[in-house]
Parts: sequence; structure tokens; C-alpha cells
Amino acid sequence: MLVCSCNFITVKDIEETIVSLLDEDCWQLIVPAKVYHAMEKRGRCCGCFPQVVDIIIRTTEAYHNGRHSTQAEIFDFMARLKQFHEENRRADLERRQKSHRAA
Ligand code: FES
Repeated sequence: MLVCSCNFITVKDIEETIVSLLDEDCWQLIVPAKVYHAMEKRGRCCGCFPQVVDIIIRTTEAYHNGRHSTQAEIFDFMARLKQFHEENRRADLERRQKSHRAA
């Protein structure tokens, strides 16, 4: 399924990139820009980023459930990851509202 129509990126492309990033460092915080950079792509309209965030969370959780990570480690990491993305979503929304008011 196509996620990013600007770059023609599918769910499978994104999932595979996330897994390869997690193979390098399984506790790193992954953001859409990091995924796109690894794929040598750039966000253009960035309208796909909320969906990419959902894929990052889902793929990261599945990755750790399939490894030897303890439930406590996974819970703590997923809570931090979700909080990080939620804060970014809120900051992005505030930034868009400010730029919309300024225009
Ligand atoms: S839809 Fe992904 S950058 Fe535009």
C-alpha cells in the first residue's frame, strides 16, 4: 500500500527501513525524517508523516516483541516513543496554526 504519494513509498519500504535502523540500534528513537533520510528521500508535503509515525510505533513494538527484550523494557521504551511522537505532533500542529494566522 502506498503511504507517500510524493516519493512513491509503500508501507513495506518503510517497515523494512525501520527494521534495518532498529538492527543498528534497537533503542533509538526513530522519526519520519530519519526513515526518509535512510531511504535517501525527503518529505515534500509531509502529509504522510502522521501515518509514518503510526508505522514506526507499530513496527518498533513488533520488533521488540520478537526479540529478547523484557516486557518492562518494551513498555518503558514504547511509552517514551509514543510521548515523543505526540509532543512532536502537538508542536507541529501549533506551528501550522501560527503560520496560518500569520498568513
Ligand atoms: S505524501 Fe509523503 S511527502 Fe508528500
